[in-house]
Amino acid sequence: MSYRTTRRQVLSSAIVASVSSARLTVDCAQAAEEPLSGAFSRNNLYFGSAVRIEEVVRNQDFRNLLLHECDYFTPEVALKWAAVERSPGSFNFTSMDALANFALANRKRLCGHTLLWHKSVPHWATALLFEKDGWRIVQRYFEAAFSRYGHAIDRWDVVNEPIETGYRMDGLRNSIFLQAFGTDYVARALWEARQLAPGAKLMINEFGLEYDLRVEHDRRYHLLKLLERLRQAGVPLDGIGLQAHLDLSKGALSADVLGRFLKEIADLGLFIVISELDVKEHEYILPVEQRDNRVADETRRYLDIAFGQPAVRGLITWGLSDRHSWLQVTQEDVARYPNAWKDGSTPGVNRGLPFDYSLKPKPMYRAIADSVRRLR
Ligand code: G3I
Repeated sequence: MSYRTTRRQVLSSAIVASVSSARLTVDCAQAAEEPLSGAFSRNNLYFGSAVRIEEVVRNQDFRNLLLHECDYFTPEVALKWAAVERSPGSFNFTSMDALANFALANRKRLCGHTLLWHKSVPHWATALLFEKDGWRIVQRYFEAAFSRYGHAIDRWDVVNEPIETGYRMDGLRNSIFLQAFGTDYVARALWEARQLAPGAKLMINEFGLEYDLRVEHDRRYHLLKLLERLRQAGVPLDGIGLQAHLDLSKGALSADVLGRFLKEIADLGLFIVISELDVKEHEYILPVEQRDNRVADETRRYLDIAFGQPAVRGLITWGLSDRHSWLQVTQEDVARYPNAWKDGSTPGVNRGLPFDYSLKPKPMYRAIADSVRRLR
């Protein structure tokens, strides 16, 4: 790889060298058995996590844990458009380069997350997208990303979260991309990606598809309709990322509903990745053991359904440790219990990932391991 060398890269290269040359000895108390990646790969699946390279650089224990458990990394932020092209035509791939170097040096695979996402459009681009040759700036970003990482990334989230219910008959999100380029923008982005990366797997990544709720029913319906249209038109789409941000306030998961949905995706000839699994808690007032068991039970229920579908290729959690989770205990969460935590204690962090704040495995880790081991 011939990236420009930066101070941070030198640092991360040193880390890569020290980690890859050392035998990985994750504390037995952390993960007493075969890593998840091993159990997954025996079932022709992969296991990975979203990663912010800054956390990897800072913390050796965490770095070792990631390398031990995962065979796939998704950049949590580093490849997004707003993160890399802060001014027109000037790309800063420092973080993504460091993550790519770290992954490749340790023989891990990488997901190209994510190209077109309405929440990650650089401010300077919002007006320019509407000009006559507005697509050109999308093309320029795609060219920069594919030319730099085309050799390192074999699976790309080309369009993220294109569905939004309650506004348009076709269920497409009225995003800046739709407003600037019309409903064809999804197909156009996929064709663009195919041209730049003929051998890569191209995906749409979507959230809010798990529960037996009216709004999620509508989301599933509109996503399937979009996928049908794209397949009928011969648009190059290979797989679907189901984010799976599970939520303990949303009621029960239904094996019938979710299983049927996964089958309908598979019947369209698409593969499936569980791309951003984590669990938002609800009852923060419970003892920690109960909180952890609820998170684990929900994970187990979800994965038992998901792994019943042979089109599922892998599982990525949205972070590995609660220390780095994007999920927060909100003020509304705390306000549900006006009489709690009066002694100055707090509910702590949301405990929706496999390892806790101090990197100890939790029941969710066991639930993931059990779900995949039950497959054999
Ligand atoms: O890097 C800066 C740091 O320098 C600064 O001190 C800090 C102050 O807030 O901000 C840091 O950047 C933040 C970054 O996360 C790293 O923590 C950004 O402001 C923040 O917007 C960014 O949020 C990310 C978000 O996507 C937007 O990119 C979350 O970490 C990330 O988990 C989230 O991921 C999304 C998926 O891509 C799509 N699906 C939903 C998922 C959760 O929202």
